[in-house]
Amino acid sequence: MERTRWYKDAVIYQIYPRSFCDSNGDGIGDIRGIISKLDYLKELGVTCVWLSPCYKSPNDDNGYDISNYRDIMDEFGTLEDWQEMVDGMHARGIKLVMDLVVNHTSDEHEWFKQSRSSKDNPYRDYYFWRKGRGKDGKKPPNNWSSRFSGSAWEYDETTGEFYLHLFSKKQPDLNWDNPKVRQEVADICNYWFEKGVDGFRCDVIIYISKEAGLPNGKFNPMLCGDEHFVIGPHYHEYIHELYEKSWSKYDCMTVGEGQGIKRKDAESMVAEDREELDCIFTFEHQECDAVLTAVPRPFKLSRLKKILNNWQHLPDNCWNSLFLENHDYSRSLPRFGKVEYRKQVAKMLAIVMQCQKGTPYVYQGEEIGMSNIEGLDRKDYKDIVSINIYDLAKKIFPPLVPVVRWALRKRARDNARTPMQWSAAENAGFTTGTPWMMVNPNYTEVNVEQQQGDPDSILNFYKKMIAYRKGNEVIRYGTFEEYYPKSEKIFCYERNYNGKRLFIVASFSDKNVSFKVPKGYAFKSSKLVLNNYDDAPVALSSYVLRPYEAVVYEVE
Ligand code: GLC
Ligand code: CA
Repeated sequence: MERTRWYKDAVIYQIYPRSFCDSNGDGIGDIRGIISKLDYLKELGVTCVWLSPCYKSPNDDNGYDISNYRDIMDEFGTLEDWQEMVDGMHARGIKLVMDLVVNHTSDEHEWFKQSRSSKDNPYRDYYFWRKGRGKDGKKPPNNWSSRFSGSAWEYDETTGEFYLHLFSKKQPDLNWDNPKVRQEVADICNYWFEKGVDGFRCDVIIYISKEAGLPNGKFNPMLCGDEHFVIGPHYHEYIHELYEKSWSKYDCMTVGEGQGIKRKDAESMVAEDREELDCIFTFEHQECDAVLTAVPRPFKLSRLKKILNNWQHLPDNCWNSLFLENHDYSRSLPRFGKVEYRKQVAKMLAIVMQCQKGTPYVYQGEEIGMSNIEGLDRKDYKDIVSINIYDLAKKIFPPLVPVVRWALRKRARDNARTPMQWSAAENAGFTTGTPWMMVNPNYTEVNVEQQQGDPDSILNFYKKMIAYRKGNEVIRYGTFEEYYPKSEKIFCYERNYNGKRLFIVASFSDKNVSFKVPKGYAFKSSKLVLNNYDDAPVALSSYVLRPYEAVVYEVE
């Protein structure tokens, strides 16, 4: 099957179904809710949806723990609803990328139930089972840590052995060294392709191959063991096999999650001739204001620019992903600007991200400038990661609790998972019942309905931005050259394709910043194409950028 690589021209909208739209008043977003918003997506102009997991799941990690890969979560609806959704998307020219969560399953998946039942069960080897260490055999087999805190091993009474779980103990890791497991994964992909899916976002795919013998890791409290399974010994081989058995047979896209991946590794993961993944999400820029994406540190613009610039220089046979938000990070607005300047900051961030080379992702609510939620208490947090960290601090060292509170307020994943703000009606129009998690109280001001009626809104700007990208060759193919890389206030770059140039300048400051057009710029004529204030300088020279001002010029 010929790969048209349609994703290079796509703008992808991520839906976190639990928080998107509730159709039946049980407080939980669902597929019929999504169906009711398809026209909204079409109007926004996005051409593809990435849907976070909607498969059967006991929801220990909100669907990232799957108990049946071939059916839909009861709370979200049925396979028939799903089919109607995908048909409705296709009818509107929107493709669908589903989440593929196959580093692990739920412990409630049939394979795991079988696997844990006895040592000689045919499914035993679908997972990693090992004897414990120590006299009583009750010490974990090695020192690897779970990404969700604590040991990555859980003791299981039935057979007196431990199983490996790099995430929660309800998410046992699949053993990809078993060819049957790899065949199952290919079959699952093909099952959904046959139903009309257009691709997969591959969850923590870089962890699938573990080093033989599962050796102890170097000391590292949070990520111990990484060096033994991040792009492990058989990673490339297994992914290529999956490509051959499934992905190559459809005109699809695949994007892998790439925590800890540097540009050099990325090249070996996504170069077209390798026939593996099409692109990845790097986490590097998510760490410009946090250590390990979780512990806040002051934001430094030069750090962000350096990382993005580096990724803009991926070789031509690789493709890049552009994103600031998803369901695993707090909202971008308060991270990169002051919320008082909501409109300017949100539009400015859209400009600097979407004028780069690569496929942009818009996470639900980003297009209306949703921001973090204030005042969550222990009882309001719903994410297993937030809850684990909070309870751990309380247990081992209570004076740490205020620090954890502070870090969670800034970084908790819950911030991005508050219900979508559709209107100023009760519960932001998300549900007629009681929402599964708190709605951000700012919904009375920040909501879709209000912004639809305001020509100057963030939402209408996103429509303009997305429309501007479409079919724009400079954006698709152009080179990327940065100016003033050391500036802590200004992000300025140029895209150039066959003499057609785009000039982008954006301020990350809440004060006026004077700006000088880079030397050697001879503007015969330049046309203002995007900006985030009512007016903008007509032609480029030196001028003062207002707080968070961003402009894009086409230069001949
Ligand atoms: C990915 C998902 C995240 C999930 C984890 C475990 O990082 O994006 O939400 O918790 O994998 O599946
Ligand atoms: Ca519902």
